[in-house]
Amino acid sequence: MRVVAGARTVTRELRALDGLSTAVTADLATPAGAAVLIERAREQLGEIDILVNNVGGVVAGSADAAGFLDIADDAWQRTFELNLFGTVRVTRHALPSLLRQRGVIINISSIGARAAYHPVDYGTAKAALNNLTKALAEEFGAQGLRALTVSPGPTRTRNWSASDGYAADVAAQHGTTLAEFLDQVPTRMGITTGRLTEPGETAALVTFLASARSGNLTGADYLADGGVIKTV
Ligand SMILES: NC(=O)c1ccc[n+]([C@@H]2O[C@H](COP(=O)([O-])OP(=O)(O)OC[C@H]3O[C@@H](n4cnc5c(N)ncnc54)[C@H](OP(=O)(O)O)[C@@H]3O)[C@@H](O)[C@H]2O)c1
Repeated sequence: MRVVAGARTVTRELRALDGLSTAVTADLATPAGAAVLIERAREQLGEIDILVNNVGGVVAGSADAAGFLDIADDAWQRTFELNLFGTVRVTRHALPSLLRQRGVIINISSIGARAAYHPVDYGTAKAALNNLTKALAEEFGAQGLRALTVSPGPTRTRNWSASDGYAADVAAQHGTTLAEFLDQVPTRMGITTGRLTEPGETAALVTFLASARSGNLTGADYLADGGVIKTV
């Protein structure tokens, strides 16, 4: 595969991608960023076979809110720009090429789409992302496009591991250290396997779902959560 990756910062890891892959600087929470990413992808790749909409997260202003009444319109708006509208716009730009290729879209959602976790704006945006994905699968399925969501639970990305990440903020709010907080996460969140998911495990699922081996899977949501979600 040749890969074009978009983020606001082209990190050392992204710069070190092999010659077949490219990193593009783009703010995907903006209309211009979505357009630039797909323009560059078309220049580099010609056509697009696989689109992974991975960007998302909890925004400042809702991460530290006590609850629903603390989350202002501005935070709701930024949450939806990041977790939903970015995917809407990138998908709209990429769709003509994906349809020509009978391609696949994998949207990275969250267990927050399926259950009422804090903060409410994040889970609501991810629930909308699941609905969008199902609608894309239905509308374009007959033309050969597949669309799926992967819904991670707590996953050891920098949001959980970094001293300035989301978990460190929550730990500070609870008056505990990041290490102590991480030790408590499996019990507090009911992770059946007793540990966080590693990013590579979720990436392996995405790779499988994007491959021809899963050629008849579409419109479905795949949990990658170590058993957090208890409902069938
Ligand atoms: N980690 C978890 O426990 C967990 C759980 C459930 C769901 N998820 C979902 O999984 C996805 C990835 O999460 P993650 O934990 O890997 O997040 P992350 O560590 O914050 O990484 C997100 C990536 O997106 C980029 N990014 C952030 N804002 C951007 C923007 N406005 N425009 C372009 N790129 C942007 C970041 O780079 P820059 O900052 O340089 O832009 C980074 O490369 C998200 O959709 C998240 O909601 C994660």
